[in-house]
Amino acid sequence: MNIKQVILQAFRDQPGRFISGEELSQTCGCSRTAVWKHIEELRRDGYEVEAVRKSGYRLLAAPDRLSAAEIMAGLATTRIGQHVIAHDEVVSTQPLAHEAAAKGAQEGTLVLAEQQTGGKGRLGRPWHSPKGTGIWMSLIVRPAIPLPKAPQMTLLTAVTVARTIREETGLTVKIKWPNDIFIGDKKVCGILTELNAEADRVNYLVIGIGLNANSVQADFPEELLSIATSLRIESGTPVKRVAFIQRFCQNFEEEYDHYLQEGFQRVKDEWEANSYSIGRWVTVQTISQKLEGQAIGLDEEGVLMIEDRAGQIHKVYSADVNY
Ligand code: BTN
Repeated sequence: MNIKQVILQAFRDQPGRFISGEELSQTCGCSRTAVWKHIEELRRDGYEVEAVRKSGYRLLAAPDRLSAAEIMAGLATTRIGQHVIAHDEVVSTQPLAHEAAAKGAQEGTLVLAEQQTGGKGRLGRPWHSPKGTGIWMSLIVRPAIPLPKAPQMTLLTAVTVARTIREETGLTVKIKWPNDIFIGDKKVCGILTELNAEADRVNYLVIGIGLNANSVQADFPEELLSIATSLRIESGTPVKRVAFIQRFCQNFEEEYDHYLQEGFQRVKDEWEANSYSIGRWVTVQTISQKLEGQAIGLDEEGVLMIEDRAGQIHKVYSADVNY
């Protein structure tokens, strides 16, 4: 942790309390003048810090900016989110995460940005990522799993995002196979998993998460208005993005550790319990065929099972599903 992070941590450990310059200088191992300089820097970063003579400093408000220091302060994980690369504006966080992973970035590294000018969705679609309204982030993980199991990580991520939304907002969310998070009939979050592998071994995964957190109607282009929504539109309250990301990291680490030790069953159960897809009549367009049927569940590996009119069961590995 750098000095700014240590100061933020001290404020968080004693919320609402004044901490004297002397105490901060001892905690940080630097002079009182250095503490004052770092407090000034925090103010420039958007933190509201009150300074009262003889009492010291206290934190009044933190900015809703996605900085590495904010996200890492008080994060109760061992890996996920322990390294954060935060940008203001990028084309897309996905290639940046690939670059970082190829250079050896640690498991759990998060690459995020306030704005993406060329956000990528699944199937080559664009992902609308306007400034400051959403959570646009790519997570690097290095699971020791065989290649065919890699899609399970997408389902694990969907389950984790859905749980985090419920915990942070109280909203009811559903997961549409394989990786869209829906509120009612509108999409609030998409997940794009990209893989780097050798032979049958996963080197790393870059899991891209695009969550419409605080967008208002005016932030969406006309063509998305009828199909997309945000947490703020649905709950009527802005989401604290930093707290959301921290909670996501904690939930993800817990679910991921359980998955690595115990396998896929718990993810499968939670995915099915929160599924938008199961029980619905769907049309599936795979690379080779188009089929219609009822989505009936996931198999043991996480593949969607569709039962057609003749009662025949088809397994859908990767496809575009329409409802
Ligand atoms: C989809 O539903 O099509 C997936 C959308 C994934 C969007 C996220 S935003 C962060 C990361 N960077 C990107 O360019 N895409 C993913």
